[in-house]
Amino acid sequence: MVQQTSGSASAELNRLRDEINRYNYQYYVLDEPTVPDAEYDRLFQQLKAIEQQHPEWITPDSPSQRVGAQPLASFTTVAHEKPMLSLDNAFADDDLIAFDKRLKDRLGFDGSIEYACEPKLDGIAISLLYEDGLLVRALTRGDGLNGEDITANVRTIKSVPLKLYGDDYPSRLEVRGEIFMPKAGFAALNEAARAADEKVFVNPRNAAAGSLRQLDSRITARRPLQLCAYSVGIHEGQALPAKHTDILHHLKRWGFAPNDQLKTAQSIDECIAYHQALGEKRDSLAYDIDGVVFKVNAITQQETLGFVSRAPRWAIAYKFPAQEEMTTLDAVEFQVGRTGSITPVARLAPVFVGGVTVSNATLHNRDEIARLDVRVGDTVIVRRAGDVIPQVVAVVKERRPDDASEIVFPSECPICGSPATEVPGEAAIRCEGGLICPAQRKEAIRHFASRKAMDIDGLGDKLVEQLVDKSLITTVADLFSLTREQLAGLERMGEKSADNLLLALETSKTTSLARFIYALGIREVGEATARNLSAHFGQLDALAAADEETLQGVDDVGPVVAHFIRDFFVEPENIEIITRLRALGVNWPETDKSAEVDIPQPLADQTVVITGTLESMSRDEAGEQLRALGAKVAGSVSKKTSFIVAGPGAGSKLTKAEALGVEVLDEAALVALLAQHSNE
Ligand code: IVH
Repeated sequence: MVQQTSGSASAELNRLRDEINRYNYQYYVLDEPTVPDAEYDRLFQQLKAIEQQHPEWITPDSPSQRVGAQPLASFTTVAHEKPMLSLDNAFADDDLIAFDKRLKDRLGFDGSIEYACEPKLDGIAISLLYEDGLLVRALTRGDGLNGEDITANVRTIKSVPLKLYGDDYPSRLEVRGEIFMPKAGFAALNEAARAADEKVFVNPRNAAAGSLRQLDSRITARRPLQLCAYSVGIHEGQALPAKHTDILHHLKRWGFAPNDQLKTAQSIDECIAYHQALGEKRDSLAYDIDGVVFKVNAITQQETLGFVSRAPRWAIAYKFPAQEEMTTLDAVEFQVGRTGSITPVARLAPVFVGGVTVSNATLHNRDEIARLDVRVGDTVIVRRAGDVIPQVVAVVKERRPDDASEIVFPSECPICGSPATEVPGEAAIRCEGGLICPAQRKEAIRHFASRKAMDIDGLGDKLVEQLVDKSLITTVADLFSLTREQLAGLERMGEKSADNLLLALETSKTTSLARFIYALGIREVGEATARNLSAHFGQLDALAAADEETLQGVDDVGPVVAHFIRDFFVEPENIEIITRLRALGVNWPETDKSAEVDIPQPLADQTVVITGTLESMSRDEAGEQLRALGAKVAGSVSKKTSFIVAGPGAGSKLTKAEALGVEVLDEAALVALLAQHSNE
């Protein structure tokens, strides 16, 4: 073997760095990865191997230098060459209309102003200075005039270029933007912290701030942070384009990922429509936003308009309703769930948050209460983001009144008085009453009737409550023996509603094995597990007879779930209820898996995403039919998605599919596909 000369090793090093930078650019900026992770990892290992042999060749812009450096004693404060400003706020359409009018008056212009529309990311503002293409300094906004030097931390963030891409960049360039933590990364970080009994963060913004405030950048390196660049500060050596949106396109060329929601609007009415549309999309975005920023797009107009005190006249932030508010914890009550778990629920002074009035929030369990150190009477911060149930995320300790009282867990079930016991290894306490407990009975019946279970239309919570309280039903089987007279005699039920419910009950009797298994409400058996059990066993009796070892052979079923399933089917009372349900006409098609050779699965290996509204069937039904053909139905689009089905109203998933070049089927094409395979 020929000994490699140091000349060719350094050439190899440069080649590797360029190649890795190119792949980084494709991944982070273009969102179009071109090589598999394994290939990327291999190149990275080669780079590290050469750098290990020649430490003198390591430069700060090498892609290997993102792991963090030795801890600092403190951060230094540095003056911004150009102050970092803040933004004026708008809270209603009228504020925006007034803003537009003010600008036109100042510009002496009665045409339409073109605006750049961007989401207002909820993170930490940052200034990144590049000299001759190399990142030399990263400063926080601080008070706008002076910031803290957090270069070592920022260097660990993969979407921050250490070296600008290409070669046509200004000799000095300051890029400004927001560093944020995507929702998924935040959830994973908190989950890991909870498991390790460490401090959890209140929201993604605090998590981003806390991660950047680390003196030890090796900690920052492990945090899922991202950069969104939104403007240029100082720039020397080259003129920039005449429009803000074109400057952002230049930034993309130099290695900064553009925001996926960036648009231009030709009038303030279009801005209002953008705010409305983004508000509707807010929950489905991968990151938290607290509003929209509108900026006059033409730089000459920006210059004419100038600044007032610390904010530009040419930009405004139109806020969304806050997702966090303060309120007081008036009391804690204990709710009994379907499987007997007793959950503490916070009763709050009503507060408007995340677009609705919230007066209850879950407190999860004893561990969560200890972690929050929350007491009755405390002022708390409540967060409601998207469809997620409201959470108490923090206590404002300074406001704790002297008479704040500790939360005491009951030793008896608050509903039926049976003993409430601690479950070893769990933070939960559980009512021992089983189906004797009316609360558990009600929850079990509600679950049985729910849309994804037996789908009994019209059997709402209030009705279940009355049926159980009046002792008209004790188990789910009793539902199918209810009479018209019994139903019509209930509160808010006439004969017509009674007839409708009887019809719904009758219709629900014909179901699928997967739905029926899910409806039984076995602990830890959700929809997906029920589907796997149905596909595996094909027949209820085979499932009921399976031992724990056999059960663990089913996808997603581990020892704990296998144990719960077994526990359920050895209980004679449960078998009796199932026997009665079948006798009363509940039925589903069964398949004999032991006799089965090979069912055709024409869509095996295909991953499908369904979005928007479908007319001839619900999304759930479409999913069921696709799964029956072997497809995997996923919730989000990636480059691995085989195709998406998009109906009217499809939003970000459709946009993403189009951007990734994933095939898009409309409803007619889906129906044709299903029909084609059902004939095979
Ligand atoms: S522009 C002069 N654009 O909002 C313009 N700011 O309230 C100043 N922010 O400190 C900022 N997303 O941290 C701008 N697309 C965006 C933004 C954005 C978030 C933050 C930024 C700033 C604060 C102003």
